[in-house]
Amino acid sequence: MNKPEWGDAERPLARHVAIIMDGNGRWAAERGLPRVEGHRQGVETVRRTVQAAMELGITHLTLFSFSSENWSRPQQEIHDLFGLLRRFVRRDLAELHKNGVKIRVIGARTGLEDDILRMLDDAVELTKDNTALNLTIAFNYGARDEIARAAQRIAEDAKVGAIDPSDVTPERFASYLDTAGLPDPDLLIRTSGELRLSNFLLWQLAYSEFVFVDVYWPDFSKELFEAAIAEYQRRSRRFGGTSARSTA
Ligand code: IPE
Ligand code: IPE
Ligand code: MG
Repeated sequence: MNKPEWGDAERPLARHVAIIMDGNGRWAAERGLPRVEGHRQGVETVRRTVQAAMELGITHLTLFSFSSENWSRPQQEIHDLFGLLRRFVRRDLAELHKNGVKIRVIGARTGLEDDILRMLDDAVELTKDNTALNLTIAFNYGARDEIARAAQRIAEDAKVGAIDPSDVTPERFASYLDTAGLPDPDLLIRTSGELRLSNFLLWQLAYSEFVFVDVYWPDFSKELFEAAIAEYQRRSRRFGGTSARSTA
């Protein structure tokens, strides 16, 4: 399977794929390893997946890497996850930049330490003119929090007369979200067999196709990625209308 064969009008290629990278802890537990080993392997899978996305002609990839609810994990695990993020940015940023990856970060800034914020801001700034792949990292992200923050900013703008309540359309609302300007995901993939959204992109996934993959994130591969996209291409997206096939 290569790009030209499977991105056509009949079976459009998924432009934006969002992934809930789940199952690192269980992957480790099954091997009698500490959970951090699963997260370490998970970072390797992130590397492979970014590479695969570029090879598969995907233009937008969004990865859920730390949720606003993940603060309820043991302090040590949170520390390990932040350490891995730091190491990932330090080790991979130059390579990502060289490959034309544009990094964006979504999620709340409050609660994050200054050095993490600075590191993320620097990565965004360095890569801002790149165009090969839009890589969005959802970090300290929760969709209800994102929506509430957007509503707060709209209320503030309304208070000073910068926006009229009647101007708050879905499009205008979306422009206040962390994802402003990004296309909605075409495809959502969640690994590990869990069938839920866990507060990920509630607004943006309104009409996305969902594919649940039954392996833990460390075992996710380019082949499984291709299979998920092939599954997406077999779906008929109707957006509330009738399908192209049934009206033909
Ligand atoms: C996903 O794996 C990584 C994060 C949520 C940070 P988990 O850590 O959730 O692994 P499981 O679901 O407990 O197996
Ligand atoms: C979702 O996974 C968050 C990330 C993948 C970063 P969780 O493992 O936190 O979700 P729940 O707790 O199983 O719903
Ligand atoms: Mg999990």
